[in-house]
Amino acid sequence: MGRREIFAGNWKMFKTYREAEDLVKGILSGLGDIGSREVVIFPPAVYARDMAKLCMNTQVKVGIQNMYHEKEGAFTGELSPSMVRDCGCAYILIGHSERRHVFGEKDGDVNKKVKAALENGLSPVLCIGELLDDREKGRTREIVKKQLEGGLDRIAAGDLDKIIIAYEPVWAIGTGKVATPEIAEETHLFIREIIGTLYDGKVSQNMPILYGGSVKPDNISGLHVKENIDGALVGGACLKADSFLDIIHVK
Ligand code: PGA
Repeated sequence: MGRREIFAGNWKMFKTYREAEDLVKGILSGLGDIGSREVVIFPPAVYARDMAKLCMNTQVKVGIQNMYHEKEGAFTGELSPSMVRDCGCAYILIGHSERRHVFGEKDGDVNKKVKAALENGLSPVLCIGELLDDREKGRTREIVKKQLEGGLDRIAAGDLDKIIIAYEPVWAIGTGKVATPEIAEETHLFIREIIGTLYDGKVSQNMPILYGGSVKPDNISGLHVKENIDGALVGGACLKADSFLDIIHVK
C-alpha cells in the first residue's frame, strides 16, 4: 500500500508560551524511532516560529491552524500564506470545523485557501465533516462530497500529492464521542471514491486521509487498523505529550 501515515496535533487556542515549549520538548524527547510516520503539530500562530525552531532537524513538523488567502493587504488580524512559510511552517489546517461553524467559513473560502497554500508551497490539511443533524438525516455522504468538491475546485491533479484530507465528523469533535472504526472507515472509503471520481484511482489511492474527533490513546488502535484510515488529527489528546506520543506510537 505504502500510503503516508500522519499524526497531527491541533492545539487550538490552548497553552501559554511556557506550556507550549514544554509540550514540544516532551514530544521530542519521547518520540524515539517512528520509522516513516509523520508528525505535525499546529500550535497557536504566535508560537509557531519558536516551535518550528525547537523542531528543526527533527521528525516533528509545524503548521498553523488558519490563514487568509490574500498575499498582503488591509486585513487586520489575518496571516498570509507567505507569513506562514516565514514562520518555518510547511503545513496549514484549512476548513477546520470550528472555522466553518464558529467563524462562518464556506467551501468557497476554503477553496481559495487551499489554492493559496499550494501556490506558496504549503501543504494544506483540508478538513471536512458532517454535523450531527446531517448524520441523523442520512446526509453524511452528500455533505462530505459537497465539501470535497468545493474545497478541491479547480485544483490540479498534480497538486494532490501535497494535500492531506482530515475527516472529522463534527459530532465527534471535543465531545468524547469517537466515530466507531466502522463508521469512520466507511466514510474514508467514500472520500477515496469521490477523489477517484474527481481525479483518478492513483491520486485517490495515494491520498492520506486522517480521522479526527475525540481520538485518544485508548481508541486509536481500532481506527488505525482500518485500511483507509491513514493517521489522525488529534485535538484534546495532543495537549499532553504522553497521550499524543501514545497515539503516534500506536501498534
Ligand atoms: P478532539 O479535536 O480530538 O478534541 O475531538 C479534534 C479536532 O478538532 O481536530
